[in-house]
Amino acid sequence: MRIQPIPGGLRVLAPAKVNLYLEVGPRRADGYHDLDSLFQAIDLHDELEVLGAPEGTLELEEAGIAEGERNLVVRAARRLLESGLVPPGRRPGARLRLKKRIPEGAGLGGGSSDAAAALVGLARLWRLAASRRELLPLAASLGSDVPFFLSGGTARCRGRGELVESWSHAFPAGAPFHYVLVYPRIKVSTKRAYEALDASRGSADALTAPSPLDSMPPVAVRTELGRGHLFFNRFETVVCSAFPELRRLHETLCKEAFVKVLMSGSGSTIYGLARSAEEARRIAGKLRTQLEADVFLARSEPPGDEENAGQGGLVEDGILDWDP
Ligand code: C5P
Repeated sequence: MRIQPIPGGLRVLAPAKVNLYLEVGPRRADGYHDLDSLFQAIDLHDELEVLGAPEGTLELEEAGIAEGERNLVVRAARRLLESGLVPPGRRPGARLRLKKRIPEGAGLGGGSSDAAAALVGLARLWRLAASRRELLPLAASLGSDVPFFLSGGTARCRGRGELVESWSHAFPAGAPFHYVLVYPRIKVSTKRAYEALDASRGSADALTAPSPLDSMPPVAVRTELGRGHLFFNRFETVVCSAFPELRRLHETLCKEAFVKVLMSGSGSTIYGLARSAEEARRIAGKLRTQLEADVFLARSEPPGDEENAGQGGLVEDGILDWDP
């Protein structure tokens, strides 16, 4: 997550993510599922402007945003206001302006990233003494993917997503992964995808098998991923069976010179890992002429620097412009 000062407040760049590895355990008593997943932030961003406003005011300006997402940003703001992190007697105000680029229902975590951006941006605007660790329970209460986006980069996420272990040290900023993402304009409901997965496998205990992420150090995992190994998504088969268009899209991408093709999250985005930035551009150009879909070029993004989200530690500026 990158933060930039602007007149009257700040702008937060909220990244999308892809899942490089995603294993799902059986349904738990609370209805959620334990995960073992490698999340990676990419440089496809929504932009959230967080601007000062009179005490007690909370406004969100945006156009064409789905109700759920609008609610997630506003809910993040309200949760923060109601948390003990805002000193008693204060009711600071804000105006939030959201510019969407990350498609919704796409498995790219856009709504979750916006919520994390709202938490971090408002903590900064209101100068709250809030560390990332203190924002974590608020993030987890907003959605399973939100904790990851508080720091971004590359991380192994477990529990229902809230146990975030940074693996960014193994994914250096100078050697990013290059992706082509294809969003087929189909929205997949995450909840429905979990239900379909449960129905498809009865009582199977996926997470009782040893995780390949345990059998080698993160740096070796990165090397293997670079060779196209270890990529996995437990949802891919079940979601591609429910949406034949996705299976066909997957097959189309497999004909290109990608190192690996995989679905992200619970879909619907299918992405390819390219051998280089040039290869990614070439294949994206070809797919744009061939497909009725949104094709994005993206690279892996290093983590933000938000150890202390309130006073002090946030990245002030320095938006990295990676686009040639
Ligand atoms: O946490 P979030 O609201 O994003 O999750 C949406 C839905 O996805 C949940 O209601 C739940 O059905 C399912 N889910 C799950 N296990 C997870 C994450 C999400 O079953 N670890």
